[in-house]
Amino acid sequence: MTMLTGAGLWWYFDSLQKDRMERAAAKGAKQAKVAGAAAIGGDFELIESESGKPFCLDDLKGKFSLLYFGFTHCPDVCPDELEKISSAVEMVNKEVSKGAVKPVFITLDPERDGAKQVSAYVKEFHPDMIGLTGSKDAITQVTKAYRVYFTKAGVGEMTGNNKEKDEDYLIDHSIITYLLDPEGEFVTFYGKNYTDREMATSIVQNIMSWKPNT
Ligand code: NI
Repeated sequence: MTMLTGAGLWWYFDSLQKDRMERAAAKGAKQAKVAGAAAIGGDFELIESESGKPFCLDDLKGKFSLLYFGFTHCPDVCPDELEKISSAVEMVNKEVSKGAVKPVFITLDPERDGAKQVSAYVKEFHPDMIGLTGSKDAITQVTKAYRVYFTKAGVGEMTGNNKEKDEDYLIDHSIITYLLDPEGEFVTFYGKNYTDREMATSIVQNIMSWKPNT
């Protein structure tokens, strides 16, 4: 926010010096810049799965964090990615300091992933992993903010009654891990192609070069 306000003030004073045509061009450029800066990230209102208490972006501030969106019934991709994230976090812990980056899992499946389910799930991967769930609306909001794609998918031919059919589904989702800085700002993201080592190297570099946005 500080940066956007600064940019806005700069534009305001700068534009006073320019004629009307230049002002119009500068305004367009400024709007494009603001839209770009706001493209990924932002606040959310979720539930921390272990305590059952509200959890928002402020609760992540102070340290770097890694956000991953998935669902606990995911057969292989989510477990693989969460193991990779946990391994990268261990590397960063060793190279920087313990707790230098917080791993966070956010469910895309609030219907099945209540607090108890998510809390048990994240413990399978890393003791420091924070598990977040929330209402369907709250999950939709955070996925829009972080540009996460997800959609319910069937699992092929189903037998049994309709209730079973309704509850047995998969979720196709983007496989992206987001790095946020200690001010909760989006820094970069890591795709499935990243190894734990590559992810850790990038995180360490970002931690070492980070400066507060004063
Ligand atoms: Ni998955």
